[in-house]
Amino acid sequence: MTLTVNAEKLLLDVNIASMANNDQSYGILENAALAIENGKISWIGAQGELPQFSHAPATESMNGQWLTPGLIDCHTHLVFAGNRADEFEQRLQGVSYADIAANGGGIQRTVTATRAASETELLDLAIQRAKTLLLQGVSCVEVKSGYGLDFETELKMLRVARQLEKYLPMKVKTTFLGAHALPPEYSSNPDGYVQMLCDDMLPQVAEQGLADAVDVFCESIGFTLEHTRRVFNKAQQLGLPVKLHAEQLTNMGGSALAASFNALSVDHIEYLDEVGVQAISESGTVATLLPGAFYYLKETQKPPIDLLRQYKVPMAIATDFNPGSSPICNLPLMINMACTLFSLTPQEALQGVTLNAARALGMDNQIGSIEVGKQADLLCWDISHPNQLAYQIGNHTLSKMWQNGVPVKLS
Ligand code: NIG
Ligand code: FE
Repeated sequence: MTLTVNAEKLLLDVNIASMANNDQSYGILENAALAIENGKISWIGAQGELPQFSHAPATESMNGQWLTPGLIDCHTHLVFAGNRADEFEQRLQGVSYADIAANGGGIQRTVTATRAASETELLDLAIQRAKTLLLQGVSCVEVKSGYGLDFETELKMLRVARQLEKYLPMKVKTTFLGAHALPPEYSSNPDGYVQMLCDDMLPQVAEQGLADAVDVFCESIGFTLEHTRRVFNKAQQLGLPVKLHAEQLTNMGGSALAASFNALSVDHIEYLDEVGVQAISESGTVATLLPGAFYYLKETQKPPIDLLRQYKVPMAIATDFNPGSSPICNLPLMINMACTLFSLTPQEALQGVTLNAARALGMDNQIGSIEVGKQADLLCWDISHPNQLAYQIGNHTLSKMWQNGVPVKLS
């Protein structure tokens, strides 16, 4: 039987790391070819077994380079103004992240700066940061609000995040994180803030279509389990999926709660215990590891990697790019850090920024692996094996990139 493929583009002489499976193999297919039609992958196979084409596609030889799915940064806070370099200096002298927050620094500082910034200023900053990620091979980024904590600024942040797709060839997913910290206006009334968030902010965000998901910072220095439940209930009513900053500094039981709402992901999870791991494994929730924040805060408690493996919980890796706990705008670096700091294998780490990151965004039916029917968000690397992507830092080997089958300019 001869297969006829309708393709606009055919990539020849390429090695593929499809990341389609969860085994240790990277989904490798050597000496392969790949066809693209309408921005999607329409055929993958051995170069010696090319199908018939209904018309001659444009062909391009990749000279034995490696094709991977586009990288996905599934947890960032990249819309913000100002910086907190002085807090970094304080932390170097031994002041803790929690103490800085308790003294009016931390997230609160960035809230003040972000409220004062115009939408255009925020957009310019966000474009520059997202472009930095794009040039590293990031074809999809998640962006959270949470530095406004008032109606106007939360909506402003989400509008900025939504606009990024107009300026850059990237997919952008937005997350409403109104419950990131308590704003000064409600400093003695957390219940009142959560009520306002549920009654006013969230319905507006949903009505304006500004968020793809809802997140909460459930922590001793953030929101309680009960607050988290209220926000999640409202999100569920509005048809929005949830995710959670959970178990970062203490074990609050946030992950188990998130699992009961079928959360897309629980993120940080250094203090997650076996009960929590079991809960997220049953709900199919992704464990998103954030080695940048772990490194930056000089944490010593590592996420329970062995338990996550044992319960077959998919692990994603992200930058958590933000001005406080992870001022790191570099996803390839996180691939390495997940290996060096959390002992992931290079294969697990690469899966963490591709297929499992797509799962954490509820997008694994469209992106995250090289499979027929998925979007042709592809990267071509001048490397000799995909393990090189975990091994080397800051040495640019990305030679080509496509977003929906369209070449991305890399300079
Ligand atoms: O994901 N954990 C809470 N939020 C951010 C930190 C935000 C900040 O310090 O500005 C995080 O690490
Ligand atoms: Fe975060």
